[in-house]
Amino acid sequence: MKGRLKGVTSTNETSARGADAKERYDAFKAQGLKLNMQRGQPSDADFDLSNKMLSVLGTQDYTTPSGLDTRNYPGGVNGIPEARALFAEYLDIDASEVLVWNNASLEVQTHVLTLALLRGLKGSAGPWVAQKPKMIVTTPGYDRHFLLLETLGFELEAVDMQHDGPDVDAVERLAADERVKGILFVPTYSNPGGETISEEKAKRLANLSAAAPDFTIFADDAYRAHHLHDDDRDTPVNFVRLCEQAGRPDRAFVFASTSKITFAGAGLGFVGSSAANIKLLGGYLGAISIGPNKVEQLRHVQFLRSYPGGLEGLMRDHARLIAPKFAAVEDVLRRELGGSGLATWTTPKGGYFISLDTALPIASRVVELADAAGVSLTPAGATYPRSADPKNANIRLAPTRPTLEDVKAAMEVVAVCVRVASEEYRA
Ligand SMILES: Cc1ncc(COP(=O)(O)O)c(C=O)c1O
Repeated sequence: MKGRLKGVTSTNETSARGADAKERYDAFKAQGLKLNMQRGQPSDADFDLSNKMLSVLGTQDYTTPSGLDTRNYPGGVNGIPEARALFAEYLDIDASEVLVWNNASLEVQTHVLTLALLRGLKGSAGPWVAQKPKMIVTTPGYDRHFLLLETLGFELEAVDMQHDGPDVDAVERLAADERVKGILFVPTYSNPGGETISEEKAKRLANLSAAAPDFTIFADDAYRAHHLHDDDRDTPVNFVRLCEQAGRPDRAFVFASTSKITFAGAGLGFVGSSAANIKLLGGYLGAISIGPNKVEQLRHVQFLRSYPGGLEGLMRDHARLIAPKFAAVEDVLRRELGGSGLATWTTPKGGYFISLDTALPIASRVVELADAAGVSLTPAGATYPRSADPKNANIRLAPTRPTLEDVKAAMEVVAVCVRVASEEYRA
């Protein structure tokens, strides 16, 4: 991704734009808008691309090509072979290194973390819960990671998300503490900044010598294939292979799902790791469940294999819907705040979010002003553990769900709110 736009302090033109900010804000407020830039959800047009999946299985289509009757229990816990093969291609690993579970990925992450807490992972001296475990997270980051880890009892250690991935120097320092059991972060088009980890940093994480013998990379690769452009893309790293090459084959779990490919929360969550880890996880899941929903797996395989251009073709069709919305955010921010010194923002090449940082500690006020003008934004602070943004500066923008027109309108309001809140703060 491109670096953050550096705010250059004001020109005559930008101060003129600032002069009428309060008037413009009041005019927006009077319009009674009702716009939502808060949640990272696909739009209905995105969902519509997958509607054929609802009828892709006929009344006699219940047997997998490998001969499993999806209506009945037998089939094991790893997922039907066809789904494992499909998502092995997606993660660029072997089918034996993939486990396909149920509707979405956060639950799969929970299962792996719970297994670690209750039993330990490969190389663990015992259950993590007995070791007062700490987990590294990146900030700004994904609020649900913080919520999940804290709910499970992990103490969080935050490191900065930099333009090329987590601050690995900080990770290396923290990993000298044996209570630090790993790192959970988004390696590709991160939430909220859209950053992708570089191969060099990924190798450092794979090779890192940690005090904990079971230090684990939990890579939530939710946006691995979610490029906005055909010709200008970040390259996702392959943690399973990098860890294997580093002689630590069991170090990484890579999670993903079809939530932003087919239907959100009504798709498939899956995980890639060493074959040994998949066996370990399968043993645990086999105690919890007789197996995942094979009908849903078959349905996804049939649909994604038959889509023109396959899964990649579907992602290109999503990009056609989503890229103009990202471009609109960039256009409005550049026009309204470019050169003002009031904010910087990221310009991701993929994913679902843009990260906006105000120069002054006013993020909560911007969100409040926007809300009062009918534009709902992710609560300020949500991108930090316990909602404590030390600079009160970060705002996550989620442009995928609203229409293009609504994104434009909402961003005009956001930009004006940054100006008004900045003026208020300086007054
Ligand atoms: C980084 C990240 N991981 C996971 C999820 C949720 O994924 P799932 O629906 O597969 O649980 C999201 C949704 O916004 C996300 O941004």
